[in-house]
Amino acid sequence: MKSYQFGVDYYPEHWPKERWVTDAKMMRDMGIQIVRMAEFSWQKFEPREGEFHFEDLDEAIGILAKEGIDVILGTPTAAPPKWIIDLNPEIQPTDWHGHQRFFGSRHHDCQSNPAYRAHIRRFVTAFADHYAKNPAVVGWQVDNELGNSHGDLCYCDHCRDRFQGWLKDKYGAIDELNRAWGTAFWSQGYDDFSSIPAPKITAAWGVNPSHELDWKRFTSDLVCEFHQEQADILRAAAPEKWITHNLMGFSSKPSYYDLGEQLDFASHDQYPGGHFHARHDEYRADFHAAELDFIRAIKQKPFWVMEQQSGITGWDVLGRAPKPGQIPLWAMQSVAHGADTIVFFRWRSCAMGTEQYWHGILPHNGIPGRYHAEISAMMKQYTPLLKEIAGGVPNAEVAILRSYDQERAIGIQPHHPNHRYIQHLMTYYKALHRANIPVDFVGEMHDWSKYKVLIAPLQFLMTEEHLDKLRTYVERGGRLVVTWRSGIKDESNLCHTDGPVPVRFNALTGVTVDEYDCLRDCQGTVRWDGMDYKCSQWCDVLSASTAEPVAEYAHEFYAGTPAITRNQYGRGLTWYVGTTMGDGLADKFIAEICREAAIAPLMATPHGVEAVHRVKDDRTYLFLLNHNESVQTVDVSAEFTPWDGEPWTGEIGPLGVRVFVKG
Ligand code: GLA
Ligand code: ZN
Repeated sequence: MKSYQFGVDYYPEHWPKERWVTDAKMMRDMGIQIVRMAEFSWQKFEPREGEFHFEDLDEAIGILAKEGIDVILGTPTAAPPKWIIDLNPEIQPTDWHGHQRFFGSRHHDCQSNPAYRAHIRRFVTAFADHYAKNPAVVGWQVDNELGNSHGDLCYCDHCRDRFQGWLKDKYGAIDELNRAWGTAFWSQGYDDFSSIPAPKITAAWGVNPSHELDWKRFTSDLVCEFHQEQADILRAAAPEKWITHNLMGFSSKPSYYDLGEQLDFASHDQYPGGHFHARHDEYRADFHAAELDFIRAIKQKPFWVMEQQSGITGWDVLGRAPKPGQIPLWAMQSVAHGADTIVFFRWRSCAMGTEQYWHGILPHNGIPGRYHAEISAMMKQYTPLLKEIAGGVPNAEVAILRSYDQERAIGIQPHHPNHRYIQHLMTYYKALHRANIPVDFVGEMHDWSKYKVLIAPLQFLMTEEHLDKLRTYVERGGRLVVTWRSGIKDESNLCHTDGPVPVRFNALTGVTVDEYDCLRDCQGTVRWDGMDYKCSQWCDVLSASTAEPVAEYAHEFYAGTPAITRNQYGRGLTWYVGTTMGDGLADKFIAEICREAAIAPLMATPHGVEAVHRVKDDRTYLFLLNHNESVQTVDVSAEFTPWDGEPWTGEIGPLGVRVFVKG
């Protein structure tokens, strides 16, 4: 596969043709090697059913190719044109109130609708056939950010029918489903699969948690199958072109592990300054780092950023302006965490439509300004580095288990109103990040054996198969961290009843949970080595059998009982954390488990300075990323030399990046 370092998302259809040559030349002059196009332009390509017009896109591709720029084409199925909606208005999705959502923005489609699928097959077949032999088109993206803008996925009768079929395949007999869902509760028994509803809003708001969990699994499978149908057409027409998808970090509608199986490599959309972030005054570099590390987990190899922020963002309201240096810093953060290719969104700020304020490299007037200058300089400086490190990944000894199924189940019943699965994972990730300890994310299906430590929070649903895998990991010498709400439910979201919590898990953890407390509107205290630390949300009240208490609660009627324990098991050990740790406690805990496992941080840095590494062959590349707006002093080990040959003064500038090499 040909390698690329920098690209841009481009929408020539938004601009007069006379400008296209200028754009292509400007891109080439900057060092752009690849462009993604077309993912929202169905109406231009097929203005009437079966009447295809690819002439303009051919021309744009030709102009780019002349400048040596290759192309990724998106299938435009995230925006079906109005004539399709007029022919088949039932394509528009139905929300959980049973109300339809209408045409006028994007993703106004039900992904199971047979008429919509027929339109897609016709269009994508023609599109794939037309571009199969075009050498400038090197890859495809199916649709766009699948799972996004689907307010919640569709609850129409087609989706309901598909859900019923999915359940029938899974359970075989209706009695088996009634048992698995516990439909004896509130008189919910079903006589036949054909009577099971999509989980629309009910009189008491939500539905049976087992019903809802299967619905979430089904919708994930539906999105993957929606992708598969197009991917099959594209692959059949052009087997040598690759397929990727612009994923959205921790977003959870489809399982990215499942979707990833269909991709040649993963891509991601990275907007650290996106207007949609809840707060704009807090430190978030760790969250963005985590999303990048997670995307690397999907194919367990480097990835692309298909949309990297290139300016101030906004739809109706805006985010903060990226400060001088921040756009290159964010792009290099993506590189540091494993991106081989950075594609900036977008080339030029659009004068029309919803995204007028989602600024591109160029402002509305097309005259290069600060964003262009900063991005050009960064590309010039770092293109050789990106070539050198392509394929390299961090060497992590710690993994965090990110499970879609646990996230779905605990999301249906979060226990504490402020509890969120990803935020909980972040308590561990952030502490590792503060300590500059490289982390991989893994799924249930991955091989964990290379990791000294596996942090597996909230093992809420516990099947025999999963338990076996955890047990084997520890028996063979792994160190496992599990937390409150582990070993609670079976695969179908019914509570285990055959033993004390963590059910079937007691031998591995060496504890039983006698009772628990939900810390509503209050915090708790954990005492460890005579120091008090904050905890929140939840406290398991534990009895240790074989486990050794490590830290204890210092609040409530359970003061003095263990909050954190450690249990030798086989050749390894299991840590149990009974609460949600505050930052201070998480730092102490990470320091302790890493000390025990002989895992050394890459180096120490001041707050807000990330140290990240990628290893390629026998060379280690160390990235220092200063997210602070002030100069920071950092002690870099003498075995590292500056990659750019510029002397290292021991200081990194505000929002600065430095790269070092060893080996
Ligand atoms: C997403 C989409 C793009 C665009 C940008 C900016 O990441 O993939 O099409 O909408 O956001 O809003
Ligand atoms: Zn539907």
